[in-house]
Amino acid sequence: MNLQTTYLGLKLDNPLIAGASPMTATADDIKRLEDAGAAAVVMHSLFEEQIAAEAAALNHFLSAHTESYAESLDFFPESGSFDNVNAEAHLEELARIKRSVDIPVIASINGATPGGWAEYVKRFEQAGADAVELNITYIPTDIATDGRDVEQRYIDIVRDVCRATALPVSVKMNAYFSAPAQMAAKLVAQGASGLVLFDNPVRIDIDLETLSPVQRANITGSYALSETLRWSAILYDHVNASLCASTGVHNSDDVLKALMSGVDAVQMASALLLHGPGHIAKLLDNMRKWMEEKEYSSVAQMKGSISLRHTDNPDAYERSSYMRALQSYRR
Ligand SMILES: Cc1cc2nc3c(=O)[nH]c(=O)nc-3n(C[C@H](O)[C@H](O)[C@H](O)COP(=O)(O)O)c2cc1C
Repeated sequence: MNLQTTYLGLKLDNPLIAGASPMTATADDIKRLEDAGAAAVVMHSLFEEQIAAEAAALNHFLSAHTESYAESLDFFPESGSFDNVNAEAHLEELARIKRSVDIPVIASINGATPGGWAEYVKRFEQAGADAVELNITYIPTDIATDGRDVEQRYIDIVRDVCRATALPVSVKMNAYFSAPAQMAAKLVAQGASGLVLFDNPVRIDIDLETLSPVQRANITGSYALSETLRWSAILYDHVNASLCASTGVHNSDDVLKALMSGVDAVQMASALLLHGPGHIAKLLDNMRKWMEEKEYSSVAQMKGSISLRHTDNPDAYERSSYMRALQSYRR
């Protein structure tokens, strides 16, 4: 049974990647994931604000001794007040991770504004990362902001990051563009080698005790896989980039469905936070059993088999499936 796949040009023993979460923050965590069978990991993100805060701290230090260094720091945006400041420590941990494991390590950078922080991916390269995952999360709160400007912001950031590094860059997209397929193509045109479908927004809530808004990291279930299946089936064979499922991959059925819809690999965060690294071994076991039963000998054989590649009129197919789903419902 051949579970091998290729993602971002990296040869993986199987399609299971541990996605960015607190479970992928340290070398010890990542070693446990490797031991359980993860084929690659995405390290917990370094945030644009951490880079800016560190640059501001350095700026402060340098200008306390001499006035003349400030211009070299101009390309960093203004610092915000951010607690978790230590970008340098993040890089040291990345280097430690690379020394501890044999599987590919994808460093993750998370930002929202075009700017000099994108240059920081060079440091990932120096620390030994095998690839970069870029998560752009921008909430356009100004009602006057045009959708095209939002798209342009994503395009500019992807361009800046791809220009700054020779490493393959995957973009963790969200599904909320008016035309996600065209957006995907535009990101690939800027140099993205892969698309992660999709990021999952944090959950908005209101605390009725403190009467304040709260945002919480969102632990998903398999139900959340739907948009990933839809868009990977649409994008399969239409963009010159690797595709990776993210959001809602919890069990082996989810992995198989994602592969059939056209992804090259899958990422899991919630499932590993809920069940621990040992979950990976179980999934691999169940995948093998299912593939044996259905007489699949490789992941490659399955990939994209239930995509929209052979559908003559995908728009009409989507519309008719939608109508059928609503009209055939019986209580
Ligand atoms: C507690 C927690 C922390 C996360 N941290 C990051 C992060 O640092 N960077 C990132 O790109 N995504 C982060 N994510 C998002 C996950 O990588 C993933 O995209 C999302 O949870 C959907 O996948 P899932 O259904 O497997 O959880 C985090 C998710 C959770 C639950």
